[in-house]
Amino acid sequence: MGTKRNFRVWRGDASGGELRDFQVEVNEGEVVLDVIHRLQATQTPDLACRWNCKAGKCGSCSMEINGMPRLGCMTRMSTFTEDETVTITPLRTFPVIRDLVTDVSFNYDKARETPAFAPPPSLAPGEYRMQQVDVERSQEFRKCIECFLCQNTCHVIRDHEENKPPFSGPRFFIRAAELDMHPLDSQADRKEHAQASMGLGFCNITKCCTEVCPEHIKITDNAIIPMKERVVDRRYDPLVWLGRKIFRR
Ligand code: SF4
Ligand code: F3S
Ligand code: FES
Repeated sequence: MGTKRNFRVWRGDASGGELRDFQVEVNEGEVVLDVIHRLQATQTPDLACRWNCKAGKCGSCSMEINGMPRLGCMTRMSTFTEDETVTITPLRTFPVIRDLVTDVSFNYDKARETPAFAPPPSLAPGEYRMQQVDVERSQEFRKCIECFLCQNTCHVIRDHEENKPPFSGPRFFIRAAELDMHPLDSQADRKEHAQASMGLGFCNITKCCTEVCPEHIKITDNAIIPMKERVVDRRYDPLVWLGRKIFRR
């Protein structure tokens, strides 16, 4: 037998909305997405919520839970105390379609702007060979489930709508880093492209993206900072050079 717990859920659409209070039964072992499904089954059949796998792998159920960007299917109700009201709101960085569903097409636009993997034209399909060591270097970035929680949390666009056109965001910085590590990618320099066309310079390495990544990808340390450092190396910034001499001995 479950216990009744308090929830506050945002309901509305592009024209506006409000937080509504509900009491919902919660059973042992349940996650926030279970509660949303019970709400739909018992009180609000028209509550809109995007989900698919319920296993933390499709990246669909991104939402904000008590103000933190999280996956609904991977957030256990045992995270919260029994008397705590759990507030569920849609991702703040993207426009609301309805209730908990946002329009994440910003991210698809940015994906289209990222030049695709381009093997050397001299290699026919089937002739690609990669060393295991090269596979392992970029494997971390390939774990991305495209939940866009990192995109949603990065303050560069979360608080500044005007930054969206020039800034691709952390998800696409790891894509650039992944392709940069690929020995067969013959596209123009990925680091320079990230700097010149993806807004890498807007990132001031706050690491909030890394903190919310459900795949625990070290976005800032393993992708963004190495790319920034190498762009700086190329441009030979004497201050950075001096800083390294002094601090990295
Ligand atoms: Fe989600 Fe992490 Fe991929 Fe960002 S990098 S979209 S937080 S899985
Ligand atoms: Fe944004 Fe991550 Fe950089 S949160 S500012 S992309 S370190
Ligand atoms: Fe697929 Fe949550 S439903 S990640």
